[in-house]
Amino acid sequence: MSDEGVDSKIIDGRKLAKKLEAEVKKGVEELKLDRGITPGLATILVGEDPASKMYVRLKHKACERVGIHAEDIPLPETTTQEELIKHINTLNNRDDIHGILVQLPLPGHINEQAVMLSIDPSKDADGFHPYNMGQLLIGNEGFVPCTPKGVLRALEEYGVEIQGKHAVIVGHSNVVGKPMAAILMNHNATVSICHVYTDDLKKFTSDADILIVATGVKHLIKADMVKEGAVIFDVGITEEDGKVYGDVDFDNVVEKASLITPVPGGVGPMTISILMQHVLMGARNTN
Ligand code: GUN
Repeated sequence: MSDEGVDSKIIDGRKLAKKLEAEVKKGVEELKLDRGITPGLATILVGEDPASKMYVRLKHKACERVGIHAEDIPLPETTTQEELIKHINTLNNRDDIHGILVQLPLPGHINEQAVMLSIDPSKDADGFHPYNMGQLLIGNEGFVPCTPKGVLRALEEYGVEIQGKHAVIVGHSNVVGKPMAAILMNHNATVSICHVYTDDLKKFTSDADILIVATGVKHLIKADMVKEGAVIFDVGITEEDGKVYGDVDFDNVVEKASLITPVPGGVGPMTISILMQHVLMGARNTN
């Protein structure tokens, strides 16, 4: 296939993110002018994980681009759950903070669910609070986890029909797989959720009209596992010798896909721009 043929199939996540960011930037400017409110995001990073540090840095840079106030609270690896929740409570009570994000994963001695539960659901920029997860499940999409919401936005932007299609999700995490399934069900797809215990993965993936893969297993999905014309989102990232790889064997799978995200430059940038959208939404919702 010619390069041009391949290029037209590649979902340009960076371009989409730019478009979304421009929308948010405009919204932020209007909110400042109309109501004198500057949206604010607080991030909390516990420990020194280099990947987590990089993600937090990228989120702060995005805030700067769109005019959102951002502050980071770096806490030592030894921080107790009680101390972390104290910080969250302070942020819950601050009028100038409209989004709170606790970077995951947390150290093993901290109960992630207890921490999510302590975030004010109206400031839950990540959409991980059980209240917002429950709202999503019953069809109210407010604060929805950013990565699956970014996938939905890309499907809409590229004019992909969801209703009646077979969407197959590989990976059943709380961050991607489960909320992705809820979103696609809300949009009337027929959804299959596969994971590490699925017996015959290929049986499912090769029937997918829309395939979303979020496992962190490098090149798990090969060309013989996908249907001709499938729309494919690769949410996985594996780093090896300074290079990043997705969960999809892109170079071979691209031949069969009608649309596909690359890694990097696919889903990642969209996730961050959705986060920006959520902070703006949190600020708009204040009285
Ligand atoms: N770690 C991996 N993905 C995410 C995310 O979307 N939000 C947060 N807070 N942590 C993460």
